[in-house]
Amino acid sequence: MNTAVESARKPVTLHRLREMHAKGEKITMLTAYDATFARLVDEAGVDCILVGDSLGMLVQGHTSTVPVTIEEMVYHTRCVVRGNRTAWVIGDLPFGSYQENREQALRSSVALMQAGAQMVKLEGGGWTAETVHFLTERGIPVCAHLGLTPQSVHALGGYRIQGRDQAGADTMRRHAKELTEAGAAMMVLELMPSAVASQVQADNPGLMTIGIGAGGATAGQVLVLHDMLHFTRGKLPRFVRNFAAEGGTADDAVRRYVAAVKDGSFPDESVHSY
Ligand code: KIV
Repeated sequence: MNTAVESARKPVTLHRLREMHAKGEKITMLTAYDATFARLVDEAGVDCILVGDSLGMLVQGHTSTVPVTIEEMVYHTRCVVRGNRTAWVIGDLPFGSYQENREQALRSSVALMQAGAQMVKLEGGGWTAETVHFLTERGIPVCAHLGLTPQSVHALGGYRIQGRDQAGADTMRRHAKELTEAGAAMMVLELMPSAVASQVQADNPGLMTIGIGAGGATAGQVLVLHDMLHFTRGKLPRFVRNFAAEGGTADDAVRRYVAAVKDGSFPDESVHSY
């Protein structure tokens, strides 16, 4: 994004995201955990920043997201908000901060919203619908998260593709409907066959589905910033494209990501999907 466009960009709102979705414009999302990267991502024109609990692995060096606490998420959300100017900020509710009951979920969400998040994200199927309803009724926009839900990695038996068989796909569609009816405005769909994500979007036309390893039919895409810049060591999932491979700065790589999501060239069905 050039400087003129940069300074012209108005803050992204939920209303604006819904308008984009209604017009068929793809929504771009990347993770950020600190002020420097939040600023970079925002200035490159990304619509939404996810302060993801993936910071447990990428910042804290854990092997999963399970150890991350609400206090740590509040700290990182504050850092991101200081660096961001216009992107829509989503704070991840970490493991153990919303499972107990809806009052616990409200307390944790209030902490993230008071740190500057504009929406909270929580993982899980139909059992979270009551919580989603409780939060949205109280003025907290919610992003749900279905498919591979990393906080349940031990229960799922690893980072596996979800919804592969008919029963799994049907359950996913049922949960997506329940969460949408409960008030979820947005939903991350992670690691599932493109056909299942496409059905979820078709079943719930107003829902902003955001895919990660879920094909190109979703309303938008999200990647972990460290993965798409190839800062992450070890084998990356096939849905990750190395946007730094063509060279230039990190800003150039993020701009390439925005352009590729917006023009539909990322994800490439034959390379990044299941
Ligand atoms: O924590 C995170 O980064 C996430 C994304 C993988 C969607 O939840």
